[in-house]
Amino acid sequence: MGEMTVNPYDVEGDIDYDRLISEFGLKAIDVKLLNRIEKLAGEVHPYLRRGIFFAHRDLEKLLDAYEKGEKFFLYTGNGPSGPIHLGHYSIWSFVKWLQDKFKVELWFQFTDDEKFLYKNMTYDEIQDWMKDNMLDVIAMGFDPKRTHFLVDTKHAGIMYPEAIKVAKKITFSTIKAAFGFTDSNNIGSIFYTAMQTVPCFLPNVLSGKNEYCLIPMGVDQDPHFRISRDVIEKLGHKKPSIIHAKFMSPLTGATGKSGSSSESKTIFMTDDAKSVKRKINKFAFSGGKETVEEHREKGGDIEVDVSCQWLKYFEENDEKLAEIYDEYSKGNMLSGEVKAVLIDRVNEILGEHQKRRKGAEKLIKDFLYKE
Ligand code: TRP
Repeated sequence: MGEMTVNPYDVEGDIDYDRLISEFGLKAIDVKLLNRIEKLAGEVHPYLRRGIFFAHRDLEKLLDAYEKGEKFFLYTGNGPSGPIHLGHYSIWSFVKWLQDKFKVELWFQFTDDEKFLYKNMTYDEIQDWMKDNMLDVIAMGFDPKRTHFLVDTKHAGIMYPEAIKVAKKITFSTIKAAFGFTDSNNIGSIFYTAMQTVPCFLPNVLSGKNEYCLIPMGVDQDPHFRISRDVIEKLGHKKPSIIHAKFMSPLTGATGKSGSSSESKTIFMTDDAKSVKRKINKFAFSGGKETVEEHREKGGDIEVDVSCQWLKYFEENDEKLAEIYDEYSKGNMLSGEVKAVLIDRVNEILGEHQKRRKGAEKLIKDFLYKE
C-alpha cells in the first residue's frame, strides 16, 4: 500500500479515497443520496454526479430535517496566505450552487490567525492576502444578503467567548495525535482548532435558533471537524454535517493537491489568458503516447491526462465530456487538442471572474458580518 498523508497541513502521496473513507470514518455519497438531493434541489450538480464531492458525515440527518421544513446554514472558509486558484474556485462554485438551490445563509470564515500561526509570514502579509482573497470570494457571486464574512482577528469579540468553551474540552494530546504536533509547535497553533470550530454553531448563538450546519470542504480539513463534532455536542449544539471534496490534481499530474505554492502546479484566478495557455501547454501532464503514430494506434489514458481530469471540473456538459474522453482514449484526439479545449474553458471562466472581481472591493463592507 502506498504512503499517503491527508491533514489540513500536509497532503501527500497517492490519495486513495476509498481508504480515506474508511480511515476517517466517512460515508460515501451513493445513488440514493444523489436522488434525494436531486429531488430537493431540482437538479444534481455535476460535481456530485462525477464523484468530486464523494463523501459526507450526517448529510442524511440534515436532509431529513430539511424535508420536514427545518432550515440549515452553510459554513466554509479560507486561510489567506496566497492567491486563490482553480482548486478553491471549484469548491466555492459548489457552495454557491448549494446557496442558490437551498436559499440558505453562508458563513464564510477567514482564518488570518491560522495562517499567521502556521506560515512563515508576517501579520501584515497575511492581512494583505486576506483582502486579496476576499475579492475572489465576492467575485464568486454569493448572495450578499445571505453571506457573512467572519474574520478571526476582527470578530474576536463574538468568537473568542465560544472558542474558549470549545478549547476547554480539547486536550493537547488529542491535537498532537490529530496533526502530528510535537512539543516544539507554537501554542497558538494548538489552540487554533477551537477557532475553526466556532462557526459551526456561532450563527445559532447569535440568532437564538438551532439550525443544522453544512460544511462543504476539501477532505483535508476533516481532522479539525472530527475533533469539533464531539465537543460541539457536549456544548449543547448540533453536530455539523459535512460534505467532502477530492483534491483537484496539480497541473503537473504529480500526487497531492493543487496548492498555491508553485506556479507550475495550478492556475490562479488572476492569471491572464496568455499565462493560462502557456501553463496548460507547458505543464499539464499528458496521458498520451510517445509518438503521434503510437497515440493514434493505442489511444491516450484519460485517468492520468490532467487536461482530461480538469475538464471534469470545468466542462459541465456530460455528453461533451464523454465525447472528449471517448475520442481521446481511441487516439482520435491528441493531448494538445484536449489542452486547447481546457484552455478555452478556463479562460472563459477566468474572464467572467476577473470582471466581477474588479467591482468587488467596494462590496467588502457589505459582506463583513456586523456585530
Ligand atoms: N483551514 C482552512 C484553510 O486553511 C480554512 C477554513 C476555516 C475552512 N474554516 C473552514 C475550510 C471550514 C473549509 C471549511 O484554508
